[in-house]
Amino acid sequence: MHAFRDVDYDRYTITKEYDPDVESIRQRDMIKSAAALVKSKKEQLGRDITACVVTFGCQMNSRDSEKISGVLLSCGISLTEDENADIVIYNTCTVRDNANQRVYGRLGNLGVMKKKNPDKKIVLCGCMVQETAVIEKLRESYSFVDMIFGTHNIYKFPELLVRLLQEDKMIVDVWKKTDSIVEDLPTVRKYPFKSGVNIMFGCDNFCSYCIVPYVRGRERSRKSSEILDEVRRLSESGVSEVMLLGQNVNSYGRGLEGEISFPGLLREVEKIDGIRRIRFMTSHPKDLSDELIDVMASSDKICSHLHLPVQSGSDKVLEMMNRKYSRESYLKLVGKLRKAMPDLSITTDIIVGFPGEEEADIDDTVSLVHEAAYDNAFTFIYSKRAGTPASNYPATLSDEQISSGFNKVLAAVQEEARKNVARFAGRTMEVLVEEVNEKDKEYMTGRLSGNVLVHFKGDASLTGSYLKVKLVENKGFYYIGERV
Ligand code: SAH
Ligand code: SF4
Ligand code: F3S
Repeated sequence: MHAFRDVDYDRYTITKEYDPDVESIRQRDMIKSAAALVKSKKEQLGRDITACVVTFGCQMNSRDSEKISGVLLSCGISLTEDENADIVIYNTCTVRDNANQRVYGRLGNLGVMKKKNPDKKIVLCGCMVQETAVIEKLRESYSFVDMIFGTHNIYKFPELLVRLLQEDKMIVDVWKKTDSIVEDLPTVRKYPFKSGVNIMFGCDNFCSYCIVPYVRGRERSRKSSEILDEVRRLSESGVSEVMLLGQNVNSYGRGLEGEISFPGLLREVEKIDGIRRIRFMTSHPKDLSDELIDVMASSDKICSHLHLPVQSGSDKVLEMMNRKYSRESYLKLVGKLRKAMPDLSITTDIIVGFPGEEEADIDDTVSLVHEAAYDNAFTFIYSKRAGTPASNYPATLSDEQISSGFNKVLAAVQEEARKNVARFAGRTMEVLVEEVNEKDKEYMTGRLSGNVLVHFKGDASLTGSYLKVKLVENKGFYYIGERV
């Protein structure tokens, strides 16, 4: 059914049996070796060695980048946001073609920088390089890239770093799949007070438009004991908000014998002292259970926000997308959620221009946006991904029809978002203070449990604290607040 069948991964793959526990010890040794190489390089140059990690795509990639950065720091390399660094790592996304194009564009600039500084090392990793066609293109047109590694062997990054520091030829290490989960690599966090936690990897849903199952592999859940240990460690190091990450958290534990379900996992995370907010992403509507609604409704810690991607409001399109729910069952679910949690913010993802979609189907999506009364939505134009079933479906709408349909959906989303975010106006609610406001340094930016941003007068010392703020001015998608 998909073109990945005839991919000659063996040309690139170094696959071997390994024991995850032994492997994690081996990688820790590799960090020591890399640190020794970095130290002598620093002495030789008389300066720091710097690295810049650039992340494209979703929360999964952000979390992977935190692991990559953790290893770099452990090896004595300084992190910077400047791409003039000695090592530049692009952690790529391939969910839509524009994500790929952005990488190629920026890679061209890196090539120019490398001409001036031949010692510069350029590394590509993440979802995009899981596609053989991409590797071929990089070999042919971007041969200045020093290293390419995929999503399955990211835990081997310390070993790959040792090779990067020693070898001059292009290193390619991309695996077709993995069954194991290697735990325990160092990580750094962007925010000291909140962190993502992977609870599962990969996806088995095969929505007909989506490349994620091909580039991230089969669904694998982490053991709950490992997850809970990680959350405990995070809490001890000052984290109060965790975001549990998976492509479909609602199927957590499937295939792991004797493992608890996702609502069970939430109950356990909830018991951990020091954790005040629990978020999770993403929930597939087909697997959202009544038990999860009960756990959410009765919890003080689980945030009042649910990201529930709908993709389309038309049954015909949902069927072609292989989403396994109908418009009616989705709206029924939304109704149940709102009844159990009247304050819940619901957000979604929508695709416009799916092959087979007609204008009437887009109208169905527009009406669903109103019925579901979303607090926000990400709206995407369908992007054809090679190897997915939908890439063989004939297109039905012209570019103009897609673009006008997209604008209609966007207008509906904005109208609903304004209306629904406004329901909190005048109330006093708790925010977690995240950072100094980018535009006005006298203001701090915090986030409500429902994920809406609030800007209020304050200073950097408040970062990471929980404060009560009165929502005085509704700016449409965010609030200006006052501390009470
Ligand atoms: N696992 C998550 C989504 C991960 S991808 C879920 O199922 O909800 C994030 C979003 O990207 C998807 O929800 C979808 O709206 C969008 N997306 C995925 N593939 C796409 C494609 N080929 N074209 C356009 N948007 C796409
Ligand atoms: Fe893609 Fe569907 Fe899996 Fe989400 S559930 S990652 S959209 S295949
Ligand atoms: Fe992109 Fe990979 Fe995430 S394709 S959306 S970075 S899982």
